[in-house]
Amino acid sequence: MEKQNKSNGSQEETMQKQKGMQSSQLMQLFEDELKDIYWAEKALTKAIPKMIKNATSAELIKGLEFHLEETKEQVSRVEQVFEIIKKKPEAVKCEAMAGLIKEAEEIMEECESGAMCDAGIISAAQKVEHYEIATYGTLRQFAETLGLAKAGDLLEATLQEEKAADQKLTEVATRAVNVEAASKK
Ligand SMILES: [Fe+2]
Ligand SMILES: [Fe+2]
Repeated sequence: MEKQNKSNGSQEETMQKQKGMQSSQLMQLFEDELKDIYWAEKALTKAIPKMIKNATSAELIKGLEFHLEETKEQVSRVEQVFEIIKKKPEAVKCEAMAGLIKEAEEIMEECESGAMCDAGIISAAQKVEHYEIATYGTLRQFAETLGLAKAGDLLEATLQEEKAADQKLTEVATRAVNVEAASKK
């Protein structure tokens, strides 16, 4: 009986140790993803104004302007999450977002301004939103697993804004741009 207890005890210890290791690895992953999205959001505060400048649909411009303001707030939310985990905000270049922004810039360079350009901007912007939705979905899940409730709430708030921005872009595309682009063929 005693022997069994002893073996249960050490098993438990091993499990605890593993759990501890897993959670510190998860925390590292969480921090890395946070640095990635911090870079991405800051890059977007510079990229979205270029999209606004190149867009022609009033509805698209309004939508992008609205999301630009949200994006600035999202930068500060990421900073608050860094604060919660007691780390200094640090941005690490996100190659995926850099690629998506580059793609958007190429589209804007190549298109003639008007409906077709708007359609290109929407397509590029939706790819950006989808990347953000994936990242914030993961981050929020990690925060939950790590027991970081307040961080989870902040990440959830941003996730909802990204989803709404994506939805808005879909609406603009369906309502105005695509119809006009097709009729000009
Ligand atoms: Fe964002
Ligand atoms: Fe966004």
